[in-house]
Amino acid sequence: MYNNHNQSQSPLSNASHSQTVGVRGPVLVQDTVLHETLEDFVFSTTLPRRIHTKGYGAFGYFYTTHSMKQYTKAGFLQTPNKQVPVAVRFSLASSNKGTPDTLRNVRGFSTRFYTEEGIFDLLCNHLPVFFVRDAIRVPDIISHLSPSPVNNLPDPERLWSMFAEYPESTNMLIWFFSDLGTVKSLRHIKGYSVSTYVWRNAQGVRNYVKYHWFPMAGVQYIDQQEAQRLACEDPDIAGRDLYDSIAKGNAVEYEMRVQLMNPEDAKLLPFDPLDDTKVWDEAVYPLLPVGRMVLNCNPENYADQVDKLAFNPANLLPGLEFSDDKVLQGRTFIYSDAQRHRLGPDYRNIPVNKQLNWSPASMVSSGNGRYVAGEIMRAEIPNPDDFTQASQRYESFSATEKKNLANNIASGLVDAQPNTQRTVLRHLERVSPALADMVRNQMLLYSGTVRK
Ligand code: HEM
Repeated sequence: MYNNHNQSQSPLSNASHSQTVGVRGPVLVQDTVLHETLEDFVFSTTLPRRIHTKGYGAFGYFYTTHSMKQYTKAGFLQTPNKQVPVAVRFSLASSNKGTPDTLRNVRGFSTRFYTEEGIFDLLCNHLPVFFVRDAIRVPDIISHLSPSPVNNLPDPERLWSMFAEYPESTNMLIWFFSDLGTVKSLRHIKGYSVSTYVWRNAQGVRNYVKYHWFPMAGVQYIDQQEAQRLACEDPDIAGRDLYDSIAKGNAVEYEMRVQLMNPEDAKLLPFDPLDDTKVWDEAVYPLLPVGRMVLNCNPENYADQVDKLAFNPANLLPGLEFSDDKVLQGRTFIYSDAQRHRLGPDYRNIPVNKQLNWSPASMVSSGNGRYVAGEIMRAEIPNPDDFTQASQRYESFSATEKKNLANNIASGLVDAQPNTQRTVLRHLERVSPALADMVRNQMLLYSGTVRK
């Protein structure tokens, strides 16, 4: 029976008590207040992203500094000083919510432009190349980058057998294991679209485009030892640094630049410009300044404003299109699939994702007016060239950078299986015999067990 006397003594409100028979219970199954309270708790968080799970958000604006009218009809890029609001999410590509910010990883750098023509999402990583050149290989890559399914622990053999099995990942190996792979501040990273898109102007002329972000505060990175030390001291250091800077009134700024390429050039180049394991020579395809992004506003509610952001490389605008890049083509539908699952079928109506008057017809893909014909097949591109750019990148390093790279590789490779070690070392020979030697010697120092 309901005990008025006891209730008046309790410091808690009526809604803080389950409905019971007498004071001690049992609890009634009809207690809808209890049920709703617990259901609300269980279902109030959104599902984590399948990858890029840990992240931080910031808001601000982008303004065009140079008209891009000659190359694209996208409205917000026509006139200098045109300003649009942006939302940005920085992330760790291979992460769970507790992954330390500083450890070797690919950082995601996604920007949403809320323009008068609709939403444009530019998803970037902080390294310019990707592990593979075909989307169909990506699930296997992600599984190599993930902890062991047996015990949920990092497994060097899983990681290094990826570099052994996919020689095309060698260029990424050189970027990833250089000190650029360890950073402590998101205010100091670059962003690269990695995938190649198309810009189309009002006359219908198409150019291939790669996007770049440059941090106005300059690029900074740390070495592996500092990364490990900071991972223990402050695993959230990069997020804290971003939030605190903006909270103190120090806006975080990046410049957008693009590289453009006439699609006809693809026939002349020694590599495939739509291959995500490649960069384009900046001396031949110069970086054209486009605009500036200013992040001056922190989230007030991470769950609603950042976790629910649904970035999608298919959120394009007239004048901004897909290319035939095989990784990008694989990405065209998977993000909205992931987001329907993660945020529910109505995810486009969540305030941060809302585009006025959106309908499927608002989507822009590519190709109208383009004639494409050929035999249907599953095949490697004719000019995979897995090692030239990796060599060029390695040779561009200073002596210290070369030494750190060799040390970073050796400290992980030493724990892989002998066959995997041998195959990776063979790939490194193709990058530079000197690099392979340095890695071999470092591994001997670590364990004395490396086999020739
Ligand atoms: C076929 C290859 C790829 C697949 C299947 C894939 C898939 C995904 C998925 C499922 C998500 C989570 C989406 C969500 O739940 O909101 C995601 C996030 C992301 N992807 Fe990819 N991805 C691929 C390649 C790439 C590449 C090449 C880049 C390089 C720029 C990239 C950059 C990102 C970024 C930055 C995010 C985080 C977005 C955010 O902060 O919400 N992805 N990807």
